[in-house]
Amino acid sequence: PASSPLPESVERGEQPERGARVARPRHFLMCRPEHFAVTYSINPWMDPAAGADAARAVAQWEALRAAYLGLGHRVSVIDPVEGLPDMVFAANGALVVNGRAYGARFAHPQRAAEGPAYAAWLRANGFPEVREPVHTNEGEGDFLTLDRLILAGTGFRTEVAAHQEAQEFLGVPVVTLRLVDPRFYHLDTALFPLGDDNVAYYPGAFSPGSRAVLERLFPDAIVADERDAAVLGLNAVCDGRNVVINAEATGLIATLRRHGYEPVPVDLSELRKAGGGPKCCTLELRAGQAAP
Ligand code: ARG
Repeated sequence: PASSPLPESVERGEQPERGARVARPRHFLMCRPEHFAVTYSINPWMDPAAGADAARAVAQWEALRAAYLGLGHRVSVIDPVEGLPDMVFAANGALVVNGRAYGARFAHPQRAAEGPAYAAWLRANGFPEVREPVHTNEGEGDFLTLDRLILAGTGFRTEVAAHQEAQEFLGVPVVTLRLVDPRFYHLDTALFPLGDDNVAYYPGAFSPGSRAVLERLFPDAIVADERDAAVLGLNAVCDGRNVVINAEATGLIATLRRHGYEPVPVDLSELRKAGGGPKCCTLELRAGQAAP
């Protein structure tokens, strides 16, 4: 990615806001949706009567993985467990910063067994420092890491006490943001980091106070509208330059391009039936000095 060409907008002669964006290679953990299904409903996207097609989900997931590999990122995979249809949403499995993993403790019993499964994988794969959490939290679903701080969602799944627990364990400032719209039940359904010091978000998902915090912290943020949010366009993964994003989020895709980012549209429509998008399927493993 370091030698990849300039964004199309630059080639067209448009000046991106702050010069060409630079991608940083990432290490992701993913879980193939072999046992994917919608058999229970724990968010407004899930309709067990409508169900979902695991084979189609696997094909879309393979394309997502191929997109990451094509961008030069490293992808590890964890074995899916039968009876855990939401385990494909690896983002919820933990929060890994500086080689230290803060484990997940799920809000709903249907997903409870995923926490230990992800913790065991991390311990066995170069992340011995896994903290078993006391408080309810759904990993990177509600914790998004920037350069100098971690943004943390609450209101539907993750408890504020877990924000404090994560801050104490990781030694990184954690800023609490309150979610108010049940369609956007995890922070990563309403906001994603753009590089290390900026974000894109949908203001309607947040309480007035949290909106004010976001405006203060990120005066240059990309603000998305409801149409893009409603197709889970904010559930995107940015590596500093490329943004892997649901293809239906056409308005946000155009805005990102204008700001010098390179959108990489993907179709995860089958996984959206469970309320998930590209970010939900992706746990970033941030190594410390000693970790792999
Ligand atoms: N069905 C899953 C749930 O409601 C979807 C999780 C999506 N993951 C995410 N990081 N937003 O828990």
